[in-house]
Amino acid sequence: MAFRWKNDLTEKDITPKQLWLNRRQIIAAAGASFVGMPALAQSLEPNTLSDIRSYNNYYEFGTGKEDPAQNAHKLDASNWTIKVDGLVDNPGDYSLDDLLGGLTVEERIYRFRCVEAWSMVVPWNGVELADVLDRVGVKSSAKYVAFETVVQPDNMIGVQRRVIPFPYVEGLRLDEARHPLALLATGIYGEPMANQNGAPIRLVVPWKYGFKSIKSIVRITLTDKQPPATWNLINAREYGFYSNVNPNVSHPRWSQASERRIGGGLFASRQDTLMFNGYDEVASLYDGMNLAENF
Ligand code: MTE
Repeated sequence: MAFRWKNDLTEKDITPKQLWLNRRQIIAAAGASFVGMPALAQSLEPNTLSDIRSYNNYYEFGTGKEDPAQNAHKLDASNWTIKVDGLVDNPGDYSLDDLLGGLTVEERIYRFRCVEAWSMVVPWNGVELADVLDRVGVKSSAKYVAFETVVQPDNMIGVQRRVIPFPYVEGLRLDEARHPLALLATGIYGEPMANQNGAPIRLVVPWKYGFKSIKSIVRITLTDKQPPATWNLINAREYGFYSNVNPNVSHPRWSQASERRIGGGLFASRQDTLMFNGYDEVASLYDGMNLAENF
């Protein structure tokens, strides 16, 4: 995948990696919370690129954790276009350059918590989703954003085997989508997004379970109705629309109170899962909502 930013020079290019990471961790930890900062800073030690690229969920390429790394080379991520439609001022088929060109590509080191109770820390490169929404012009009647993943049946063994219904779809409430933490990511560690991580562009919503972070997006629709979400369609009792990380609300089949950090080794102890995955600044989005009912 040859897509590169013109303005992709980052702090990382000019700062020794260790220094850069430490500074970034401190900034990110401070942003997340002032309480327990040393512990948080430690928990923001990013996973290696090899961890991030070899332990994946991308059912289009198979259901095993190693399947995407093995099969996703078949994804054709060239000449990518994203259809933007629904309640927008500027609908159309956008190239990545049209959609993202000139926007600020940032590095964000985020905790990433899968609903299956494993987690990683990933240094994403991406743009704020809010900036992209501004570019396409959201009509005042829009209340939600819907996303859809590409389907390339010839290239996707999981699609051929119909392991779940495709296309994979997801959605956010518009105020969630506009939160500055919500990213459209195009890279990791300054490298273009690997296919198995959702090349060329995927969503990252760090305060929600990982399945909300839909990969390889080809369609963004603004709508006034709550959009369908794949895991909620498959099993609404187990997977809600909101899917905010919440240690107090168990999955019907397992506890969500703790998590296993990938890369920690066989004997690493589990760590406590944090409300909103530690991103307390999103709490006001859910003021007055019962988060046990709206899980
Ligand atoms: N997006 C698509 N299109 N298909 C998927 O199977 N899996 C989700 C999410 N996005 C998935 C997807 C799940 S369950 C998780 S935990 C994350 O992607 C995993 O992202 P990663 O493999 O980059 O860690």
